[in-house]
Amino acid sequence: MLVDIVVVGSLVTDYITRTPSFPRPGETVFGHGLSIGFGGKGANQCLMAAKLGAATAFVGKLGHDAVGDNYLDELKRTTINIDHVTRTSLAQSAVANVVVDDNGENCIVNIPGSNRLMTVEDVNAAAEVIKSAKVLICQNEISFDATKAALTIARQNGVVTVLNAGPAVPNLDPEILNNSDIVCVNETEAEVLTGVPVSGVADAVSAAKVLLTQGCREAVITLGAKGAVSLDLTSLAAGTDHEWVPAEKVVAVDTTGAGDAFIGAMAFYLAKMPTLPTKEKLRRSCAIATQSVLKPGAWLSLPAREELPSHLFDE
Ligand SMILES: Nc1ncnc2c1ncn2[C@@H]1O[C@H](COP(=O)(O)OP(=O)(O)O)[C@@H](O)[C@H]1O
Ligand SMILES: *[C@@H]1O[C@H](CO)[C@@H](O)[C@H](O)[C@H]1NC(C)=O
Ligand SMILES: *[C@@H]1O[C@H](CO)[C@@H](O)[C@H](O)[C@H]1NC(C)=O
Repeated sequence: MLVDIVVVGSLVTDYITRTPSFPRPGETVFGHGLSIGFGGKGANQCLMAAKLGAATAFVGKLGHDAVGDNYLDELKRTTINIDHVTRTSLAQSAVANVVVDDNGENCIVNIPGSNRLMTVEDVNAAAEVIKSAKVLICQNEISFDATKAALTIARQNGVVTVLNAGPAVPNLDPEILNNSDIVCVNETEAEVLTGVPVSGVADAVSAAKVLLTQGCREAVITLGAKGAVSLDLTSLAAGTDHEWVPAEKVVAVDTTGAGDAFIGAMAFYLAKMPTLPTKEKLRRSCAIATQSVLKPGAWLSLPAREELPSHLFDE
């Protein structure tokens, strides 16, 4: 099997309850309704790339339960190859219990379940598809051993490796960082990884410089409505410094998953239009992520190629 992009990552089902107010301990409240969403950073990023027209494969793990059955059915409705999505009886499929009140505040209980049972053996079983890909994307939502194994196989075979180091953990394994060509994080994650508080372009450049000392070749930091910054070793050495693209001004409806849309889009450009200049990849990925904040929900808000302006796909 030949794919453009392979994601070794997480599958999470969101159970989203809307309520007038949060229950206090011991209290029962009547909510407005329940919706079920499919997500996990890995799956969101993979679907974004697939919706843009990349051939994608997912390597992940679900439990042997109804939640897992539903997720698998949903994946079968996409173009994502799921030959390497396995099942386990040792843990439940991952779920996130999300409660949203009428002010839009949320409380989340996340059960990582089967995602954490991803093993080096699972990754080795998918080695051929990883080697065949142009780009590998990993996150911090599965076991670190599995992530490290995937990045190492990819790196040894000339596959471009992208690490979205979220959720961020301090003291991330140096071998995870130094096997990642591109580390892409948001402001909070950048601060956890580097110790540099980030709330704008100048801070992002400082944090990116620290990330480059941790072993990656390019650091990309997304800044929400302020766009995204990129810095790579070659431009740093050449003294040309960073690239910054601001985001288009829009009325954001739901920014959940914007970072995932950005990373899926960036992987698409790395795989399908590798010769585009870095700044142009950044600009187009930003434009696609901005489209995703205009609609509610995670998967439904990811724009498909047909819904986007054709100039985003000009060579
Ligand atoms: N309010 C917004 N207006 C326009 N674009 C946005 C907005 N929020 C996010 N984006 C787009 O999504 C990208 C990722 O958003 P960000 O909030 O940094 O990621 P995360 O979802 O990881 O917190 C940004 O670089 C930008 O392109
Ligand atoms: C960055 O992403 C994390 C999830 O990994 C999220 O909890 C956090 O709120 C995000 N930060 C910003 C500034 O959007
Ligand atoms: C990556 O980091 C590990 C652990 O610090 C080190 O042993 C290894 O030599 C490093 N590899 C590269 C390519 O820098």
